[in-house]
Amino acid sequence: MPQRFSVRVPATGANLGCAFDCAALALGLYLDIHATPRQDSEVTVRYSGVNPERIPTDESNLIARTMRATLADWNMTRGFDLEIENQIPVGAGLGSSAAAIVGSLAACHWLADATLMDEDLVSRATRLEGHPDNVAAAWHGGFTVSAQAEGRVLSYSCAVPETVRLVLVIPDYALSTEKAREVLPAQYSREDAVHNLQRAVVLAAQLFSGKTDLHRTFFDDRWHQPQRAPLMPGLREVLDYNHPDLSGVCLSGAGPSVLAFALANAEMIGEEIRQIFQGKGINSQAMVLPADNLGAKGWSLPA
Ligand code: HSE
Repeated sequence: MPQRFSVRVPATGANLGCAFDCAALALGLYLDIHATPRQDSEVTVRYSGVNPERIPTDESNLIARTMRATLADWNMTRGFDLEIENQIPVGAGLGSSAAAIVGSLAACHWLADATLMDEDLVSRATRLEGHPDNVAAAWHGGFTVSAQAEGRVLSYSCAVPETVRLVLVIPDYALSTEKAREVLPAQYSREDAVHNLQRAVVLAAQLFSGKTDLHRTFFDDRWHQPQRAPLMPGLREVLDYNHPDLSGVCLSGAGPSVLAFALANAEMIGEEIRQIFQGKGINSQAMVLPADNLGAKGWSLPA
């Protein structure tokens, strides 16, 4: 009987303020990919979920393209039917393309009956995505740090306690990562380099030791948020927002979504951030959600 393979991959929020291009948190919002092998070499795509207008359903679909190219690398020309169910807003700084690439590689791994170890999958996904942070967290789950070295990616993750309340506020427009990277400087001063580095290592040490009393200074970034703020109306004001129950707020990945860490009153904090965006003429959606500590998970069932 033909089998259908399914994989569920979480959204991810990269950078967390200070840890640009090297850390991300997996979020409880998911992309589900169901792949059924075909006898011929055709590929079909059915999509349901958020931002359908941003998702092609022909062979230019990112998941279809990634799977096709990966299988071709392994000398397989077999076709497949894809059913995609997606909760991750697209072009919003929530790792939707990283989830698509990680999910595609996991599905190929199953279709080709190939062995792809953790490091192989994350390294291959990083070559396709360009940055290791989101793909590593999408694969491992939890809080994940990663480093690129000679074409490989070293990545480590730890679970994030359920007591950490994440508030995600998603503006209703898309911004490409390419555009958000064009505004970044080619060089940083030693003072700014040390500023972010100090915060990134302490943030990682704290989360890896199971502590969650995140200090507001971790989110005080000098490498990308100030440079990107002119692209995102309301971002400067949101980053300056304060509340007694707020540990910190940062841009999620390349934006425009923002991620806040609340000690209590998470819904209220989300609503207040939403109103700041609204005051700048930007509609947005606020949600409170847990971190995802499982990462990508796959299973197969009869089709
Ligand atoms: N770290 C990347 C950036 C986003 O901020 O441009 C995700 O890979």
